[in-house]
Amino acid sequence: MPVPESDPHAPAPRPGDAPDPTRRGLLTAAAVAPSALLAGVARADDVAGVAPGAGKAALITGASRGIGAAIARRLARDGYRVTVNYLRSRELAAGLVREIETAGGQAIAVQADVADAAAVGRLFDAHQRAFGRFDVVVANAGIQRLGTFAGMDDADYARLIAVNMTGCFHILREAARRIVDGGRIVALSSGTTRLRPPTYGPYAASKAAIEVFVNILAKELAGRQVSVNAVSPGTTRTPLFTDGKTPDQIAAFARQTPHGRLGAPADIADVVALLAGPRGGWINGQVIGANGGLV
Ligand SMILES: NC(=O)c1ccc[n+]([C@@H]2O[C@H](COP(=O)([O-])OP(=O)(O)OC[C@H]3O[C@@H](n4cnc5c(N)ncnc54)[C@H](OP(=O)(O)O)[C@@H]3O)[C@@H](O)[C@H]2O)c1
Repeated sequence: MPVPESDPHAPAPRPGDAPDPTRRGLLTAAAVAPSALLAGVARADDVAGVAPGAGKAALITGASRGIGAAIARRLARDGYRVTVNYLRSRELAAGLVREIETAGGQAIAVQADVADAAAVGRLFDAHQRAFGRFDVVVANAGIQRLGTFAGMDDADYARLIAVNMTGCFHILREAARRIVDGGRIVALSSGTTRLRPPTYGPYAASKAAIEVFVNILAKELAGRQVSVNAVSPGTTRTPLFTDGKTPDQIAAFARQTPHGRLGAPADIADVVALLAGPRGGWINGQVIGANGGLV
């Protein structure tokens, strides 16, 4: 049976869709960004070498190191122009920008404390000036302060909520105002919202708020084809997790996952890239566990 030139029953392209290779004539040379030709970008299921982020831009908070840096690196490889937000690690952020540029991508580093609403406005303004559009916003910046209810002090509690919960609110609010139709918003939660171990009360609660935020924001953006989700990592090898733990304690955590290892930042970045890309749009308002089976 001859293969039809295009499927007459296929849904109409949506905003943010990558060109469909079965729709001949839609794939133009203009759609192929030079960054798509970066080494390692093309995957077998990429559309004739068109990177998912070609012509698009992504802002990632807390991207100087850890999971955020892996997300920025991955989205840049996927062809997005990226804003690397950081709080204090100016050199790390600048190094990541250089790495992305050396690979043929485009990036800027912008300092901003997500807990400060005015600073978040300036962060988004800087991205707007550099790249002109918000296709993907990733609210990743977060901190961890652990303590029992009896033992946690006011300052630690207040900063935890200010960065993780209020900071995420600031990012989602700006994203809701500025994201393009068909865009993607992703926020980082944590498997501790379900595991709920002792000493994680305020941290897990700050992340539980994020899971509620994304679900409600997904509904508020109805009609614009914007998908809003949370990614919920388990134990992931970054300073946030390893700082203050002995090698034996870290190894014990690794043994808790069915896969017998900690997550790597790139494991989490892969899930964010899926949600950001052309195949992720139908996932909306969800919390996606990325934890190797820990939870
Ligand atoms: N690692 C895990 O096991 C794990 C598990 C579940 C969820 N998560 C979540 O994943 C996210 C990333 O964690 P991670 O492990 O990659 O942490 P990390 O290695 O400690 O890195 C945190 C990043 O956030 C930035 N940051 C911290 N406070 C900020 C603020 N107020 N404003 C802007 N940026 C700020 C840091 O910037 P500077 O470098 O400039 O300080 C850094 O880039 C967090 O939301 C975390 O809760 C992590």
